[in-house]
Amino acid sequence: MNEFPKPHSSTSASDKLVILDTTLRDGEQSPGAAMTVRQKIAVAEHLDALNVDVIEAGFAASSDGDHDAIREISGQVKGSVICSLARANERDIERAANALRSARRSRIHTFIATSALHMEKKLRMTPEEVYLRACTAVRFARQFTNDVEFSPEDGSRSDPDFLCRVIEGVIKEGATTINVPDTVGYAMPVEFAEGLRKLRERIPNSDKAIWSVHCHNDLGLAVANSLAAVRYGGARQIECTINGLGERAGNASLEEVVMAVKTRRDLFGLDVGVNTTHLVAASRAVAEATGFSVPANKAVVGANAFAHASGIHQDGILKARETYEIMRPEDVGWDKGALVLGKLSGRNAFKHRVQELGMHFPDDEGLSAAFARFKRLADTKAAITDDDLRHIALGVAESSTVSAS
Ligand code: KIV
Ligand code: ZN
Repeated sequence: MNEFPKPHSSTSASDKLVILDTTLRDGEQSPGAAMTVRQKIAVAEHLDALNVDVIEAGFAASSDGDHDAIREISGQVKGSVICSLARANERDIERAANALRSARRSRIHTFIATSALHMEKKLRMTPEEVYLRACTAVRFARQFTNDVEFSPEDGSRSDPDFLCRVIEGVIKEGATTINVPDTVGYAMPVEFAEGLRKLRERIPNSDKAIWSVHCHNDLGLAVANSLAAVRYGGARQIECTINGLGERAGNASLEEVVMAVKTRRDLFGLDVGVNTTHLVAASRAVAEATGFSVPANKAVVGANAFAHASGIHQDGILKARETYEIMRPEDVGWDKGALVLGKLSGRNAFKHRVQELGMHFPDDEGLSAAFARFKRLADTKAAITDDDLRHIALGVAESSTVSAS
């Protein structure tokens, strides 16, 4: 059995975690999530408000719409680095460079597949041809910007010896970020983190680039794989999307990776520049632009992420929020955590909410009578509304033990 990897401890990796958001590129590759140029600009404004480090604004060579969206975003968004994806060929790279012309800081992200399966069946190229193509592409991209990212597509299923050769080659040609994708969401956290650590150890010039990961969610592990790669593999960039949008089952979710690294600073010890108080607004904007609604139980940004239903939990929350909340709702953009009143709620939560609505029980008898009515109603209804509560409290008031203020 494998031992669990040791935490990454190299002194060369920085203490900053770079967040590259690819909602507008990989996120948009979700079937049915296509956005207009205007919608993309609106989402880019939210990404800017979030203060993400890099916005992958599209794949310039894929369509005129993508090219124009990248051009517009480059002209308008000045806080983040603006990036375009490009296959490893001159036309794609020129198109990316052209779309990025007015960016204050631009990045070209070029990629080519390195797994035996992809090289043979998809690219129909030999490993030698792929190696030369990768190196030539990076050298060419460096003519347009000094910020060049290279991805060996299907990296997690590629032969490590070949990966080492390709990555060493592209770093020599000037790649400044090396992004290892788990393109098909196949990797397991320990294996992926270990694989990254070994690559970094084996490649002689590995310290000349920032190491990044890009994980897909086919087995529900995109966030876990990304975090493991940071903690145990030395990755210092995560590629992710708002709401975990992306090809097939999606990409690592930005709000989840960011809040994990911030909440567990004791474990990661890394700085993340994202303004988390804008997460809920950004999530809503992406849901609206794409038509992909956010499930209520989605971590961080789902409607129930801070809603407490059980009586024991509600009682704990009223005494000290930390009993059942590891993050503060206001830190991610919610007004505050909600106590959802229903059949599991206790007397304390009921009383608290009724008081919030401005009703007061002068004695225990009135409270008990109202609570009993509430419990009877809760057995017949999934969620009790504020109007229901007012009705109950006023009903009891008519028997003169409650006062409205
Ligand atoms: O999933 C993937 O491999 C990609 C690359 C282009 C980075 O999206
Ligand atoms: Zn991808």
